[in-house]
Amino acid sequence: MSHTTTTTMIRPISPNHVFATFDCGEPGLNAWLQHRALANEQTGDSRTFVYLDAQNRVIAFYALTNGAVIRVGLTSSMRRNAPDPVGLLLLGQVGVDVQHQQQGVGKALMVDVFKRAKLIGQHTGFRALGTNPIDVPAQQFYTKFGFRLMPGISPALMLLRRRNIP
Ligand SMILES: CC(C)(COP(=O)(O)OP(=O)(O)OC[C@H]1O[C@@H](n2cnc3c(N)ncnc32)[C@H](O)[C@@H]1OP(=O)(O)O)[C@@H](O)C(=O)NCCC(=O)NCCS
Repeated sequence: MSHTTTTTMIRPISPNHVFATFDCGEPGLNAWLQHRALANEQTGDSRTFVYLDAQNRVIAFYALTNGAVIRVGLTSSMRRNAPDPVGLLLLGQVGVDVQHQQQGVGKALMVDVFKRAKLIGQHTGFRALGTNPIDVPAQQFYTKFGFRLMPGISPALMLLRRRNIP
């Protein structure tokens, strides 16, 4: 099955969504969704958005929070005329259930991320959308959407300049 429509199926996470069996292949991300995402809604530490199927099962999710990174280690274009630290909107977690990977769900999530980032950008300042890819395949995924690896920063940080958000 191909997922080509669908940002309408992406909603803020809620306790009546089903995610106990969610598995994106990364135990740390699964555990975060199952044990932290709702708690963080209460504290306001992050906001999680879930892609639901017709039975309210979570087939994918992402989370947003705010962050900042010191200028050292950023590319020159990212540093130019920027405050120190540089404000970021952080795409903290992204996962698609293994049964739904390679079908365009990740792409649908990113379309929603970009739409939401533009909305957020009307209300607060940030220079770039940032993410910490967990491995090389994740880096390749984000590269497709315009994120660039910052050469001097560990753990790996990829940024997409706000003005380049599609
Ligand atoms: C990475 C992940 C989110 C991709 O989701 P997905 O639904 O399979 O991705 P899509 O089917 O929408 O693919 C979108 C594009 O990314 C590419 N892509 C998907 N997974 C990829 C991977 N692992 N490596 C490289 N490219 C990848 C696809 O080929 C596609 O490119 P195209 O448009 O040129 O054909 C998903 O595989 C996942 O949840 N992985 C485990 C957790 C993870 O790594 N999260 C991201 C880092 S926190």
